Amino acid sequence: MNLPPRVKLVEVGPRDGLQNEKQAVPASVKIELVQRLQDAGLKEIEVTSFVSPKWVPQMADNAEVMAGIQRLSGVRYSVLTPNLQGFEAALKAKPDEIVVFGAASEAFSQKNINCSIAQSMERFAPVVQAARAAGIYVRGAMSCALGCPYEGEIAPERVGYLAGLMKGIGVQHIGVADTIGVGSPLKVRRAVEATLRYFDINDVSGHFHDTYGQALANTLAALELGVWQFDTSVAGLGGCPYAKGATGNVASEDVVYLLHGMGIETGIDLDRLVDAGKFISDFLQRKPNSRAATALLNKREG
Ligand code: HMG
Ligand code: MG
Repeated sequence: MNLPPRVKLVEVGPRDGLQNEKQAVPASVKIELVQRLQDAGLKEIEVTSFVSPKWVPQMADNAEVMAGIQRLSGVRYSVLTPNLQGFEAALKAKPDEIVVFGAASEAFSQKNINCSIAQSMERFAPVVQAARAAGIYVRGAMSCALGCPYEGEIAPERVGYLAGLMKGIGVQHIGVADTIGVGSPLKVRRAVEATLRYFDINDVSGHFHDTYGQALANTLAALELGVWQFDTSVAGLGGCPYAKGATGNVASEDVVYLLHGMGIETGIDLDRLVDAGKFISDFLQRKPNSRAATALLNKREG
């Protein structure tokens, strides 16, 4: 086993989580969530996305949220930008990092960003160029790397192909995303290995939704390959409105519990993270979708 001593979590709850909520979440609640997450020790937070408000109305308050957060030095704030229009709007909000998001499946690319994989590269290339010229770090996300809601199985070669395209346009870091949480450890291994043909291990992260309860096992499989960066979502929030059947990301609390239990450092205070998850879950009038958070909250009551 080749386990890393330290892992960085990218908290995607405010973006991946709240983009998928039916009820409106006011900007002030999103801002407080970001505050609580950074207070818990998260060093990278995906705050919002600069996408079409007709497609994803939940993120229409992107500029307000970015303007409202109290930035801490040493914390990176990232946003999703699907095209130049989104990037130009995002630029005013001064993100530290932007994310272009493509798909390993043609059908999902069409459903999610309304263009083919090839067209998405034509859209992303000037975004990547402009971001890097402005000194903004560029991450890429590869949706459906472990399966597609429309096409089913996705061969690792297609993940490798997309990783090569992303690398070719200057993307600096790549996320292997299981959009609908259908993957399992062997598929993770194959998709990560295909990605590693184009990206260094230090520039690869895992983004696992937990629909079939495999996300922790998938995280461990990636860890064993040396991957040390993961997108996770507090209280297990998450899902993509254009991915039928997708549920939340792996809960940040569960991943922190796993890592700490293995002696792997995260810099995160699990109790404060549980508080952040409880805060947003209370607002949404439900229990946190995290086994570790549930256990710790029960213990507090007991
Ligand atoms: P389109 O309709 O093809 O774009 O959408 P268009 O260029 O033809 O423009 C049409 C209209 O959209 C115009 O407005 C534009 O101004 C507007 P109109 O003239 O009709 O009033 N528009 C925009 N408005 C605001 N911001 C923009 C923007 N671009 C165009 N950036 C587009 C193409 C990509 C914009 C659209 O398909 C879209 O917004 N898609 C986003 C879908 C999305 O956010 N999905 C969830 C995030 S991805 C995800 O969750 C997966 C991830 O977690 C990893 C994983 O789990 O797989 C990252
Ligand atoms: Mg996602």
